[in-house]
Amino acid sequence: MCGIVGYIGKKQAFDVVINGLQRLEYRGYDSAGLVLIQNETFLMKKTKGKVSDLREISQDLDKTAQMGIGHTRWATHGVPNDVNSHPHLSNSGELVIVHNGIIENYSAIKTMLTEKGYHFVSDTDTEVLVNLIEFMQKSSNLSITDAVRFALNEVIGAYAICVVDKKEADKIVVGRLGSPLAIGMGKDEFYIASDASPFVEFTKEAVYLDDGEMATITKEGVDVRKIADNLQVEPLVQQLQFDLDQIEKGGYDHFMLKEIFEQPKSILDTMRGRLLSSEGKIKMAGIFDHRNRILKSNRIIIIACGTSWHAGLIGEYLIEELARIPVEVEYASEFRYRNPVIYPTDIVIAISQSGETADSLAAIKMAKEAGAFIYGICNVVGSSIARISDAGSYTHAGPEIGVASTKAFTAQVTVLTMIALELGKQTGELSNEKFHKHLVEMEMLPKQVETVLKLDKEIQEIALAYKDATNCLYLGRGYNFPVALEGALKLKEISYIHAEGYPAAEMKHGPIALIDENLPVVIIATKGHYEKVVSNVQEIKSRKGKVIAIVNPGDTEVRAIADHCIEVPAVEEFLSPIINTIPLQLLSYYLAVLRGANVDQPRNLAKSVTVE
Ligand code: M6R
Repeated sequence: MCGIVGYIGKKQAFDVVINGLQRLEYRGYDSAGLVLIQNETFLMKKTKGKVSDLREISQDLDKTAQMGIGHTRWATHGVPNDVNSHPHLSNSGELVIVHNGIIENYSAIKTMLTEKGYHFVSDTDTEVLVNLIEFMQKSSNLSITDAVRFALNEVIGAYAICVVDKKEADKIVVGRLGSPLAIGMGKDEFYIASDASPFVEFTKEAVYLDDGEMATITKEGVDVRKIADNLQVEPLVQQLQFDLDQIEKGGYDHFMLKEIFEQPKSILDTMRGRLLSSEGKIKMAGIFDHRNRILKSNRIIIIACGTSWHAGLIGEYLIEELARIPVEVEYASEFRYRNPVIYPTDIVIAISQSGETADSLAAIKMAKEAGAFIYGICNVVGSSIARISDAGSYTHAGPEIGVASTKAFTAQVTVLTMIALELGKQTGELSNEKFHKHLVEMEMLPKQVETVLKLDKEIQEIALAYKDATNCLYLGRGYNFPVALEGALKLKEISYIHAEGYPAAEMKHGPIALIDENLPVVIIATKGHYEKVVSNVQEIKSRKGKVIAIVNPGDTEVRAIADHCIEVPAVEEFLSPIINTIPLQLLSYYLAVLRGANVDQPRNLAKSVTVE
């Protein structure tokens, strides 16, 4: 959830660190700090607030140092304030640390250290960790590398850390368990970051530490070891597959808007080389290579969190309808703690944009231990979930920076649709003719999404009418019930308007009590269950609710009674979630902007939830 950055080399570290923190701000943004290391001294600045505040208070800093570490925080232990901000110093002032993650046994360690005479100025688990390292170092006369290793063997929890010792000020020691850490490989210079975005402009080569690995980084090189037994590891250098312009706003006011508008391309990229309608084929190696195991299984379990869970629900509708394989969809956080029945024959599809979500990772590990086959659908290449999976498909949506997930969601649904079609073909549920027809229909999606995006201005105007709403209901049926859930989540997370998604038919069982002239109801009334949805619209209107309906061309019934209609291209129902989600993303975006909310960095949220 926090972002960490480090640099050692020949450039001014300040620029690398502060600009890197700015790029990682999507991971957490309640406080920020950095330390420059020069002539065995620490030049440190930290503050509650954003990276821009840190930049401001760093104006008087001597910026000539060529080594530094920094942090942007999403608070777990201790409120966001200057004292709790990272970096944290050890009691002697000789060690400094930045940390992403949670040290679960920090309380016991703190008690032990307090008894040994250590004192603490912050409420953080991180300050406990840096003092544990110092305690180990001093009590056994260890190098900083060994002290970090000894200490990490004592802690329980999740971490990605950078540690510097004044007495060995030519190295940064890093370690990882459960929280991501990448090392950018330059010539006589190295970058450290929670993901590669802070250094992609300087190097295209990165090493992603595995869980349980640490590294000692000097200008001369990187020495990677296993934390448990100090065994040396040959680092696997990977080529980065994105450019700087992909992680910048490119003229848009917000990353979220840019990412919404990128969807024709991201969907196309996700289908590229896989959906081959002219050959009548879907080419997905992950599915094809493991088709026997998948087809022999009695069920598929989809696990995910948040928006990815909504994609999973659509996956359930798709796979059950097109391939007739039973599917269960689980919140990873519930699945991992509720002692579920898992058979070795189960196929678990894990969906995650970041590939780092702690609950999803833990759920996967549990399913793996029970012998299930794990199929990962991730956006971030080389992420933990991608690596732990037995097989999988990347979504190829490109870096998603806005905290509210948009293009990653439609890319996930695109992958799931292709999987469902391929499985439908393999199970024989789809005839060759029908399969081919569906491929042709699916291929048209990017163009149809472009058409929907042209409704931008119209949706902006509709948003104006509802900017003061305090509640909102989203309704949909069938494939569009998860779309309603996703629409409601998008609205609440960025505009802070309370919103609920419901299956349209469930309205009568409770939410109808809320309907009055002050309640906007967004209802998906495109083809598929149309007549029944028309009845729902009538029920809302007869109680004076305000209706914003997503409709198809030629609609007359809903148009006659709804307050606003947003007309999207008519597509086959199984493709409609992708099309129908786009106007809901735009509606949330404009409502949030009109309310003055920080769209890209909504309060209390972080892009990748690496703590449970
Ligand atoms: O990276 P993941 O897809 O695993 O993240 C899951 C959720 O944390 C994420 O979708 C979250 O709900 C977003 N804020 C939604 O916009």
